[in-house]
Amino acid sequence: MRILTKIFFASISVAFIAVKWNSPTFEPESLRGARVLVTGASTGIGEQMAYHYARFGAQIVITARREKVLQQVVEKCLSLGAQKALYIAADMATESDPDKVVEFSLEKLGGLDYLVLNHIGPSPFSMWKGDIEHTRWLMKVNFFSYVQMAWKALPSLEQSKGSLVVVSSLLGKLAGPFTAPYTSTKFALNGFFGSLQHELAMNNSNVSLSICTLGLIDTDNAMEKVRDVIDLPAAPATEAALNIIKTGSTRQAELYYPWSTYIVTLTKDWIPAATNYIIRNAYNYIP
Ligand SMILES: NC(=O)c1ccc[n+]([C@@H]2O[C@H](COP(=O)([O-])OP(=O)(O)OC[C@H]3O[C@@H](n4cnc5c(N)ncnc54)[C@H](OP(=O)(O)O)[C@@H]3O)[C@@H](O)[C@H]2O)c1
Ligand SMILES: *[C@@H]1O[C@H](CO)[C@@H](O)[C@H](O)[C@H]1NC(C)=O
Ligand SMILES: *[C@@H]1O[C@H](CO)[C@@H](O)[C@H](O)[C@H]1NC(C)=O
Repeated sequence: MRILTKIFFASISVAFIAVKWNSPTFEPESLRGARVLVTGASTGIGEQMAYHYARFGAQIVITARREKVLQQVVEKCLSLGAQKALYIAADMATESDPDKVVEFSLEKLGGLDYLVLNHIGPSPFSMWKGDIEHTRWLMKVNFFSYVQMAWKALPSLEQSKGSLVVVSSLLGKLAGPFTAPYTSTKFALNGFFGSLQHELAMNNSNVSLSICTLGLIDTDNAMEKVRDVIDLPAAPATEAALNIIKTGSTRQAELYYPWSTYIVTLTKDWIPAATNYIIRNAYNYIP
């Protein structure tokens, strides 16, 4: 047990130092006039990112399915100081919409400096009950559309020395219960974009690619699901959004937010039994 305690505190220290002292300084000025596309921006973390980019004076295109809500977010972005704010309604489960959204942004903004891939389709928070069709659909929304949009935007990002930002999850690093389809889509993202990170580096690409690992964040959709089931604190969506933006802007390969997510990614391999014990006991579940 003493060795486990030492490993635990060593990993906390490593995580804290790695996350806190390794970050270059963020220059808010660099975002003035930046051409940004944020997906899943009608609510949650994406909406908060749109407002931060707006305050920094960026030119923004936002997308999601619900046109009415997008319209309201765009209006607020303009009132907060966005140089430009446009929306395009799209369904990322379709084959054509991911391309359509990137084309719209390239045309309206004359190129892209940031592509922030953030949307997720709604998925049940419950034990796996064999819904293959839902898993196939979620894979389209949460994974294939990301691949498609990234590839479509890459030439423009090469030109602008831009940044590709992928919003993933702690559940892209380790599995948790009640989210098998969602967890699969996030593992797929981490695998695909981890591979792409290597290839961009090997090509001396102008494009930076950031993969963001988020823990539990207090968005309405997330809170509604985990309420009564999980005993874990949730971090604020607006802070998560700002941290993602800083990560993209400073061209870092990874973000862990909150920083405690880094501890879990370390301990899951060092002390798997203890990590699994903690995970399973964080859920109120009686079979
Ligand atoms: N919240 C958390 O606890 C948490 C934890 C770890 C990671 N993350 C990650 O953070 C990101 C944002 O999460 P969030 O909690 O802010 O999500 P959210 O509040 O549920 O928002 C999801 C967004 O995606 C859009 N969307 C849903 N289905 C779509 C579809 N078929 N086509 C196009 N857009 C669609 C939604 O708008 P419409 O309904 O209008 O389409 C909405 O704007 C996700 O990548 C998520 O995995 C979140
Ligand atoms: C790397 O460069 C090769 C040769 O120009 C190109 O075919 C490939 O698409 C590039 N890969 C990426 C991920 O940019
Ligand atoms: C990076 O940008 C420069 C222009 O600034 C361009 O000449 C070069 O081809 C770009 N690199 C790639 C890999 O596209």
